[in-house]
Amino acid sequence: MALTYTTDPTTTTTTTRCRRRLHLHSCKHRHQWVLCFFFTGIFHKRYLFVLSILYIVGLITCAGRLLTILHPPPPPLPGSLYRSHELFLKLWPEIQSDNASNVELDNLWRYRRKLKEQRPCLNANAYQEPVSSGLQRYLVVEANGGLNQQRSSICNAVAVAGLLNATLVIPRFDLHNVWKDPRQVPYLSRHFFSAEFADIYDEDHFISSLKDFVTVVRDLPKELMESYNFSISNIPNFRIQAWASARYYLDEVYPILQETRIVRISPFANRLATSIPPHIQFLRCLANYKALRFSSTITNLAKTIVNRMIGKSLNSGGKYVSVHLRFEEDMVAFSCCIYDEGETEKSELDATRKNGWGKKFMQTNRIFAPDLNRVNGRCPMTPVEVGMMLRGMGFSNDTPIYLASGKIYKEERFLEPLRTMFPLLQTKESLATPDELAAIQGFSSRLAALDYMVCLFSEVFVTTQGGNFPHFLMGHRRFLYNGHAKTIMPDKSKLVVLFQNTSISWDTFKDEMESMLAESDRKSIMVPRVKKSTRKGSIYLNPLPECRFESESASLASCMRKVEWYLRNIADFQKLR
Ligand SMILES: *[C@@H]1O[C@H](CO)[C@@H](O)[C@H](O)[C@H]1NC(C)=O
Ligand SMILES: *[C@@H]1O[C@H](CO)[C@@H](O)[C@H](O)[C@H]1NC(C)=O
Ligand SMILES: *[C@@H]1O[C@H](CO)[C@@H](O)[C@H](O)[C@H]1NC(C)=O
Ligand SMILES: *[C@@H]1O[C@H](CO)[C@@H](O)[C@H](O)[C@H]1NC(C)=O
Repeated sequence: MALTYTTDPTTTTTTTRCRRRLHLHSCKHRHQWVLCFFFTGIFHKRYLFVLSILYIVGLITCAGRLLTILHPPPPPLPGSLYRSHELFLKLWPEIQSDNASNVELDNLWRYRRKLKEQRPCLNANAYQEPVSSGLQRYLVVEANGGLNQQRSSICNAVAVAGLLNATLVIPRFDLHNVWKDPRQVPYLSRHFFSAEFADIYDEDHFISSLKDFVTVVRDLPKELMESYNFSISNIPNFRIQAWASARYYLDEVYPILQETRIVRISPFANRLATSIPPHIQFLRCLANYKALRFSSTITNLAKTIVNRMIGKSLNSGGKYVSVHLRFEEDMVAFSCCIYDEGETEKSELDATRKNGWGKKFMQTNRIFAPDLNRVNGRCPMTPVEVGMMLRGMGFSNDTPIYLASGKIYKEERFLEPLRTMFPLLQTKESLATPDELAAIQGFSSRLAALDYMVCLFSEVFVTTQGGNFPHFLMGHRRFLYNGHAKTIMPDKSKLVVLFQNTSISWDTFKDEMESMLAESDRKSIMVPRVKKSTRKGSIYLNPLPECRFESESASLASCMRKVEWYLRNIADFQKLR
């Protein structure tokens, strides 16, 4: 007997549930079959058993279908659908007439925001520069990923060079890796051009700020390059496990470095553990918070923009809110979330996925679960959602907002409501002239660097999606403002439920937002008070206390010279053994 399933386009949609339980015919087919047996007279006793089985099977299957009709599928999970526009249109009259504001930007912090003076290094010149005897050894790394992943690679490279007593060659940027790794979402994929270290960072400053600890050179010496036919890619590449410990570097990499004089590690993102001995951790701090400074092109433009933003924020004492939005087309496509624009949206985003990531999204084992993504708070927040959230939290409509973002997906539909709620909204495009932006236009990392700087100096920083950009900024702001820098981290899985509820009132929504703000404040004030040695967090997010340069131990460290430094490391590691 034929148990193969025949596809009938008319029945497939309604019988999905049937089919899942029993991989047999559709009910219609089986009935015709049974009738055939009866009326053509080909009826044998031995078929009786088979027939009764078939009958029962048919009964169960059809009853199943009947049940489906009587009990329609359950309503969508709370938070699985995008209804924010609908909700906005419904609540807008109430939002508009609500001009009570809870947040006073010029009086936000109980703590005074003050940059601590760095204590000068007492004996900076008391030591003799160690005379370099013997051959230098070199560390060559390629920093892959976007702006901030590169940043962590550079800092880790400084730490590893210090650990291995190697000279660091200015890291090379391997941008193309972004495409190979789908976890990395490019900032602005459409404009993806390569960059050199000096395009993003001030190379001279980097070299000179590290000179007492790690020697950094622009290029390998000629005689060494000669042996590799003047091509870095001829240097054998050392593959290192992710989050390798300091111990691993000393045991596995150090001997090779002694032997070959040069070690190349590519890619170098996430190749060093977060928890490393304090002396090495200090190098990482030094690199991130002192040595890495954006190039003068970026810094000068950023200063101009920050000053203009302050000028636009005079009603709040020059203080403004920055919002990091991740609602560019590629990010939306990558998230696999649905924003309720039906077929047009789907085909557009499918095309973006195909262009950006090729077959990655077409693999059959890849599960698309846009509803669950939303429920779990993984969908990029739309500008309209950000606006309602901030108004609900008590930011009044005259709050100056700087929006850090690439080109917003469907700007007309998604950005306009935010502008309506916050007319003082600014972006780098509205603050700088096209001529001023021309030098960096089209370069994703440079544009991101500019946004980074403007967010760094804002009074409040609002994150809307995880990732390296907010992570590094939060840490950098904590470092600059001595632990007290206000960041709003929305509870997105709570938000999606509220945004889907089109019967919610503005007052209820506001109450929810106020408690969300209180919760976010509570979390961001807390500085983990775990013992230094057991801390899991990274110094990029939580710079204190490890990166407190003005503290006694750190100023001691900052006065140390290379040789001393190295000897102390060795002693540290012998204790570890
Ligand atoms: C709120 O704004 C409306 C119109 O914009 C105005 O009539 C009203 O007086 C304002 N209320 C307060 C408390 O400022
Ligand atoms: C560190 O490297 C330099 C060469 O760059 C060498 O002269 C010095 O002896 C090394 N120090 C130690 C402690 O190995
Ligand atoms: C360098 O080039 C020479 C000749 O072109 C070749 O014989 C040699 O193998 C190359 N060396 C390396 C390390 O690629
Ligand atoms: C929607 O909001 C109303 C009013 O606040 C509330 O009674 C209802 O339970 C909410 N529905 C859901 C699904 O959360």
